[in-house]
Amino acid sequence: MRSLLVTNIGELVTGDPNWGEGPLGIRRNAALVVDGRRVEWIGRATDTPVADARLDVDGAAVLPGFVDSHSHLVFGGDRAAEFAARMAGQRYTGGGIRTTVGATRAADDEQLRANVARLRNEALRQGTTTMEIKSGYGLSVADEARSLRIAREFTSETTFLGAHVVPAEYADRTDDYVSLVCGPMLTAARAAGARWIDVFCEQGAFDADHSRAILTVGADAGLGVRVHANQLSEGPGVQLAVELQAASADHCTHLSAADIAALAGGSTVATLLPGAEFSTRSPYPPARALLDAGATVALATDCNPGSSYTTSIPFCIALAVREMAMTPAEAVFAATRGGAAALRRDDIGRLTHGARGDLVVLDAPSHVHLAYRPGVPLISNVVLNGELV
Ligand code: NIG
Ligand code: FE
Repeated sequence: MRSLLVTNIGELVTGDPNWGEGPLGIRRNAALVVDGRRVEWIGRATDTPVADARLDVDGAAVLPGFVDSHSHLVFGGDRAAEFAARMAGQRYTGGGIRTTVGATRAADDEQLRANVARLRNEALRQGTTTMEIKSGYGLSVADEARSLRIAREFTSETTFLGAHVVPAEYADRTDDYVSLVCGPMLTAARAAGARWIDVFCEQGAFDADHSRAILTVGADAGLGVRVHANQLSEGPGVQLAVELQAASADHCTHLSAADIAALAGGSTVATLLPGAEFSTRSPYPPARALLDAGATVALATDCNPGSSYTTSIPFCIALAVREMAMTPAEAVFAATRGGAAALRRDDIGRLTHGARGDLVVLDAPSHVHLAYRPGVPLISNVVLNGELV
């Protein structure tokens, strides 16, 4: 494995306050060496060691690669017509999920794989070096298993979301569908390499009792827990996530004071998905209240064909800053260290000794430009696993 020296870094975001100034741990006029896929040396640009390859970034900012801890990339078709209808005044209810289930079941493996590859590459070009990918548009044993097998070709962070909605063939038989999810579907999901289990805990999807039952058998089977919580209304999702010590409660759009206190007092990360509020014309989640209460916040795309068809973490950072009163530093932290915390990883989301060699070079002098220059392609280089891509 060749070593890579990245030098003349105007602003190095280490992501660790022990390694530089402020909460982002910023170092100026820095250099680093990635060797054997890990960050091996960090120092001043004036006294760099010899390496096999050299990338001179000429004063640009270098950040840890973005960690997108929430996406739904395995699907067929799209829902542009639903989006257009929404922009003409219709409400988002999640009812379109069944449309995508139909299109996903109808697609062959090669079509699904090509769609994931297209979106994964799109994300990589925008600086995402780790991506969680969920199933949830198959909703049969075979279609959930193949969704997870395909997801596993692209990431080790795969999530079984058999409990996304009750599919049409189980209408009015929710108990039977929950038994299927907890039994043969979970067995197949584990065999297909799932690492996490997730439930859409919401009116119209799964209530607290069904959600708890599904997440508990998943956890007993060795899967980590994450929850789609409080997206469309206040409800039991966040409290359930904290009770089960889930790694993450995702969306957190409609929170009570008790929900905020629970997130601040527990180990569950609040993962905010502002692309969904943008694309459904909904109020944004109360990021300021969560941060001020001391909760750990992550930012992710939620990329899916219904509520948030974007792969862009820079876009989510810009929304978080402009619409959710987060500072640029808080938003960058949430999209790197926050995402890593939501996946219970400490080898990504930071650039310190021993961390994975995943980094982005901006076509800009500081991380602030990610929000300051919205919509502009600012990612000039991406290093993934020690290799320039
Ligand atoms: O996270 N809310 C549940 N699932 C997705 C949306 C799925 C869809 O509309 O297709 C979400 O927003
Ligand atoms: Fe989602």
